[in-house]
Amino acid sequence: MSSSEIRQKFLEFFKNKGHAIVPSSSLIPDDPSVLLTTAGMQQFKRYYTGELDALKDFGSQRTASCQKCFRTSDIEEVGDQTHLTFFEMLGNFSFGPVGSDNPEDFSKDGYFKRSSIYWAYEFVSQILEINPARIEVSVFKGDEEIPFDKESYKIWHEEIGIPKEKIIFGNRADNFWGPTGDEGPCGPCTEIYVDGVEIWNLVFNEYYKEKGGEYRKVEKPGVDTGMGLERLTAVLQGVDDVFQTDIFESLVLKIKESIPSHDRIVRILADHLRASVFLIADGVRPSNKEAGYILRRLLRRILAYQLKYDIHADLFTESMEIIKEKFEKIYPEVKETKIILKVLEEERLKFQEAVGRGIKEIEKYKEITGAVAFYLYETFGLPFELIKELASEEAVKNLLKEDFDKEFEKHQEISRAGAEKKFGGHGLVLDTGELKAANEEEAKKVVRLHTATHLLHWALRRVLGGEVRQMGSDINAERLRFDFSFNRKMTPEEIKETEDLVNQKIKEDLSVNFKEMPKKEAEKTGALSFFKAKYPETVKIYYIGENLENAFSKEFCGGPHVGRTSEIGGFKILKEEASSAGVRRIRAVVES
Ligand code: ALA
Repeated sequence: MSSSEIRQKFLEFFKNKGHAIVPSSSLIPDDPSVLLTTAGMQQFKRYYTGELDALKDFGSQRTASCQKCFRTSDIEEVGDQTHLTFFEMLGNFSFGPVGSDNPEDFSKDGYFKRSSIYWAYEFVSQILEINPARIEVSVFKGDEEIPFDKESYKIWHEEIGIPKEKIIFGNRADNFWGPTGDEGPCGPCTEIYVDGVEIWNLVFNEYYKEKGGEYRKVEKPGVDTGMGLERLTAVLQGVDDVFQTDIFESLVLKIKESIPSHDRIVRILADHLRASVFLIADGVRPSNKEAGYILRRLLRRILAYQLKYDIHADLFTESMEIIKEKFEKIYPEVKETKIILKVLEEERLKFQEAVGRGIKEIEKYKEITGAVAFYLYETFGLPFELIKELASEEAVKNLLKEDFDKEFEKHQEISRAGAEKKFGGHGLVLDTGELKAANEEEAKKVVRLHTATHLLHWALRRVLGGEVRQMGSDINAERLRFDFSFNRKMTPEEIKETEDLVNQKIKEDLSVNFKEMPKKEAEKTGALSFFKAKYPETVKIYYIGENLENAFSKEFCGGPHVGRTSEIGGFKILKEEASSAGVRRIRAVVES
């Protein structure tokens, strides 16, 4: 059975059982507690908590999806036969309230353990036609905090007829799932194994883990299941290596043409190339933090192998085409191979020089200690994993990640101490996380720059078009720096027009106000929110103009801002330049 057939059969099966089929969400989650989407349930978190209503939004309390996922936890293992960073996860979900929980009930009601288990078994044994003799299952055995999942055990054993010796009793680490991030729905799970390989995880969200670590039993328990498509395909295609499935076949063959005798590196390249394509297609760009850093790591590893094995850049162009062909029907965003190649090329240019110098530097050391590794990282941007890979085995035989991490921490302490010194060592008069100032004078300046940033955002959208979005902002007492999505250099006229618009609004002496409200309501006001930024449940909308309804500038923002725009004084753009692919950067100042 091909991977596309598996996807299709899965969704069809659950559709026939009353589920709404929901497309995969982006790899950049709406959930501020995680960097990337790691599971199918993530886009549904707020349906489990009851904040949103699935019946209203999807027409059913049951959904199913094939979700793009990315997990960094396995990044070190990539290169073996089973681990991947990017993968697809098939899943069915129920958000309660639990209806009959009868597997013959194909309504739109919520369901729980019985229906989930019956359907999973039916899908595996009848649709996928896996011989029951190959199947084992696991259930949560319980501990001091959470009791034994007796219901699941009984359903498997007494109703489905799985013999006792084929039921594994798992502990917390293996049979309790979630939450993603530091709070959210979670619960005991039961897994299905085929020939000893875990293929499906059925999670029963009976609990909500609070930020403080406490587990609260929820009123409406939910179901969250996940089945990794690549692994399942391997099982069904009779191979023990995910890279031998039809998902990777042509990509692996292509890469092998360039590096015929390094299977491990072929697999790493196959994984990393595919994962980078998906990350870039969802808007992630290489940077030094968060998701951007994860992408940078993948790209730099690819580029380092390119240097090391002298791989021609055509391989990348050809790989993109293969990936596009394989996935564009399901994930149309991967069609944009031009952008993807451009990001890769830009990163290559940045990295080439640094790595080239770094590799030469590495060769100078007979032994690379944690301190040397940190030096290489800081000076040449070489990630720890790459140093290990690029150096001779002899030079890194005693090098431990811990030693590198210790150096890293030391360095952070030093920079923290530096920052404290800069700010006078006795606390800041303003510290919102985003805005920092050491004294009253700095604070006033920073606040003026902050309101100017909102005006600039508005003006850019007026001049360049509504697609312009804030991608980043950094303010200090000297200047503001604003990153926004736009794919060419601004003309001098556009810069002038933007500047004039901001100055005009400053002159108009408009009042700046905010309104506090629940996030859900705030989303409906049309206020701009910083791309996937992290917002609490109650948010402030800052607006400039008479009232919230007809204000020309509205943004999700914690403040503070000036009371009236005239306090900003004057506004001047100093520089407009490229920041990264499709992102421009403006530096500007305010003048009194
Ligand atoms: N959310 C569960 C998992 O990722 C199903 O395993």
